[in-house]
Amino acid sequence: MTLPAARPGASPLAPAWLRVPEDPNALAAGVWSRNAVRAASGELELAGVPASALAAEFGTPLYVVDEADVRARAAETRAAFDAAMRGIGTTARVYYAGKAFLCTEVVRWIAEAGLGIDVASEGELAVALAGGADPARIGVHGNNKSGRQIARAVEAGVGAIVIDSAIEVERVAAAAARAGRVQPVRLRINSGVHASTHEYLATAREDQKFGVATTDAPGIVAAIRALPGLAFLGLHSHIGSQIFETQGFAEAARRLLALHARLLADGPVPELNLGGGFGIAYTVADDPMPISAIAEGMAAALAEAAADLGVALPAIAVEPGRSIVGPAGTTLYTVGTVKPVTVAVPDGAAADEAATAVRKYVSVDGGMSDNVRPALYGADYSARIASRASGDHPALARVVGMHCESGDVVARDEYLPMDVGPGDLLAVPATGAYGWAMASNYNWVPRPPVVAVRDGAARIIVRGETIDDLLARDPGVRP
Ligand code: LLP
Repeated sequence: MTLPAARPGASPLAPAWLRVPEDPNALAAGVWSRNAVRAASGELELAGVPASALAAEFGTPLYVVDEADVRARAAETRAAFDAAMRGIGTTARVYYAGKAFLCTEVVRWIAEAGLGIDVASEGELAVALAGGADPARIGVHGNNKSGRQIARAVEAGVGAIVIDSAIEVERVAAAAARAGRVQPVRLRINSGVHASTHEYLATAREDQKFGVATTDAPGIVAAIRALPGLAFLGLHSHIGSQIFETQGFAEAARRLLALHARLLADGPVPELNLGGGFGIAYTVADDPMPISAIAEGMAAALAEAAADLGVALPAIAVEPGRSIVGPAGTTLYTVGTVKPVTVAVPDGAAADEAATAVRKYVSVDGGMSDNVRPALYGADYSARIASRASGDHPALARVVGMHCESGDVVARDEYLPMDVGPGDLLAVPATGAYGWAMASNYNWVPRPPVVAVRDGAARIIVRGETIDDLLARDPGVRP
């Protein structure tokens, strides 16, 4: 038996979470950047710039960042945590986790919104400084920071270095002594709380590389306090990414505050950093909490734990990355080929008469080199035709890239208009975090540029690479 190749209605190949859209041109609420609209012409417009104009000027694939959206999310995050922590009698500091996407322009947007920046490598530190970030508002992470990274951070006068192992205490102290500075430090704790998208686990100690065990922390803090070149700021915990509920944060807050209370016996502990990880919507299946609800949930857990322990609340810090830049990014691609592939329906009819259905493979001019998340994490994304509105019915599609690998998926399951075809521009929303940041040159594919759009204008904020740029790194190229 063969099911109709293309028909309105749910495909038996579609996952349960994927709804058949009423209109396969519609931009699902909450998934697209705030200034994305389908214009009267039928085209997708990003902050007033038509997709076709972006593609004509900058080519595809192209990362497009909605500047006003990033700025607004940064400001809203700060306002939400300020309000929530004020409500429990303390203060909040928000750091933007630069690993999600960093360039000097983003550094400026973040600084203007009043956030600090978190860096996780020597390169990220260099970008933050090159973008004019106030060193006092930079936090430095890493489970294996290089000597040079530590030295540069100390010399620059960063506000905090997050110590991740006992070995690092001496290293940071030595760098501080060489620079003649007192370096403020946090200590990262492996709290045993791990939250992922829809669940959280709490164990004595999570089986991963970051942080130190709760039981080891008092000894390490004593060592920090004994060194005149170090100033102990407090504890740090980051429990995971793309988290949708406050349970995990609440558990981490309770555990960290209990340890914090013990450390108060021997000296001041001015702050507590609870990390980032706030989830965003990649598809209609994701339902992230508003940032104010996350902040309120964290504040409630902190207030309760502080009351139970009988301690005053320290200043609270958080460091989200994805929730600030992720939803503001859109990637534009050009469709090259389309191919109907007949597939057996899982759990279909009797084995001797297996049901089949058609999945439309839509190949675009980028893929796992500009967004590795589907291949690396099995992450789901959405897609829409950007260059026009179609009057055709929705059909189940799989948007795939141009790389030599079957796992090279851009949007695993999505309904696109049946007539999607070569030359159409395709837009993938929510690519602002960990897209460009994790891009590669797989198959010698140059990394695309990043363009910021705002009020009808577009400008490059990270130049794209050319094949000549890549060849320039190969010393064997013949003239
Ligand atoms: N703080 C620390 C210490 C972190 O390790 C991270 C993320 C963050 C903050 C920011 O987390 P966010 O708010 O962006 O979720 N590449 C993965 C995510 C790995 C994140 C690693 N650390 C992805 O594409 O989903």
